[in-house]
Amino acid sequence: MLDIHNFDKFAEMETPFYFYDIGLFERTADKLAALSVTYDIGVHYAIKANSEERLLRMLSERGFGADCVSANEAVQASKCGFAPASIMLAGVGKTDKEIRTSLEVGIGCFNVESIPEMDAIDGIAGGMGVKAPVALRINPNIDPHTHKYITTGLEENKFGISRFEFDAALEKLRSCRNLEFKGLLFHIGSQITDVENVFGLESRCGRELVSWFEEHGLKVENVDFGGGLGVDYEDPDGSPVADFETWMKALRSCFPVGEGYKLHIEPGRAIVAQCGSLITRVVYVKKGRTKNFVIVDAGMNDLIRPALYGAYHKVENLSASYLRGDDTKDCAYDVVGPICESSDVWGEGRILRQTCRGDLMAIRTAGAYGRTMASRYNMRDLAPAVYSDEI
Ligand SMILES: Cc1ncc(COP(=O)(O)O)c(C=O)c1O
Repeated sequence: MLDIHNFDKFAEMETPFYFYDIGLFERTADKLAALSVTYDIGVHYAIKANSEERLLRMLSERGFGADCVSANEAVQASKCGFAPASIMLAGVGKTDKEIRTSLEVGIGCFNVESIPEMDAIDGIAGGMGVKAPVALRINPNIDPHTHKYITTGLEENKFGISRFEFDAALEKLRSCRNLEFKGLLFHIGSQITDVENVFGLESRCGRELVSWFEEHGLKVENVDFGGGLGVDYEDPDGSPVADFETWMKALRSCFPVGEGYKLHIEPGRAIVAQCGSLITRVVYVKKGRTKNFVIVDAGMNDLIRPALYGAYHKVENLSASYLRGDDTKDCAYDVVGPICESSDVWGEGRILRQTCRGDLMAIRTAGAYGRTMASRYNMRDLAPAVYSDEI
């Protein structure tokens, strides 16, 4: 349950804002840190999910590494205490400038997504008189059974190097004198909930691909399974801490501990999603002919996931629960934002306690891919971040 004791404090605050439950964030990070030791899996937090400095510092203090997709993220990671050698850089479009900056930061690995990229990194590293550590991001052609916009490991996706290019990639690696081969990366998609099956398949497929590269003379030291562990958007209070253990077990299924491969993961959403809520206020309750609308002051510019992916976020009326108790009746509403786009909808036909102008609402599970994807569309202000222990 979102800590309702904050309600009094929320009531005075300008909305919308992102509220981060620091206690839950700490519990999640501590659990993951402990499991990372048990299963001997290195954790590299995917900064794109949420790059708030305070959260990054809490993760770097726990010894996690960072997974970045831009040089700015790599610089931010290094600034927030992540050891440069633990920082990885993925992304299909690394620019020359980003490659140079990342080499200056001294990152631990470029996760290379194409053969032309190998040439670019090799040339720039040579010019700087350094060797660039690289892993090949493999496109394993696995269906993660998630939304098509967050599927990344199918051949039709733009990510990684596909099987038909393996020979050419090997040849290129051998000819690039300034690249130092570190291992393989697989990342197949995000918000994966069929954890045992999909990640078990990723482990089997990873094993087979590692064998292929080793049979062709390349020693694979590091195997990185990327991120993708899903969270419960329907019932955030039922499972506030993601099931990291089932994930790790599934990944380890074909890579037993002690065999010599160093395993890595790059979770983003699973670390940070549940600790964040977007707090918003009801501006108007508007009667329609066939339905009623609750119009809130948070819009798709603050949290774009529903408009972008049709993603579900639970919406709660905090005022009704806190001020009017359990006696108020439930009603069906379309909960919508103020933006001039028909897709600015938080949910249709949502059953909520009877709602009034001024009520505070929480849009739950908003900690990941929320504030990092926010924009100033309609010239709106960016919703600030507020931490539970600072109000
Ligand atoms: C290469 C890579 N690693 C890790 C992640 C993090 O994924 P998630 O937030 O689902 O754990 C992503 C997300 O897009 C990614 O592209």
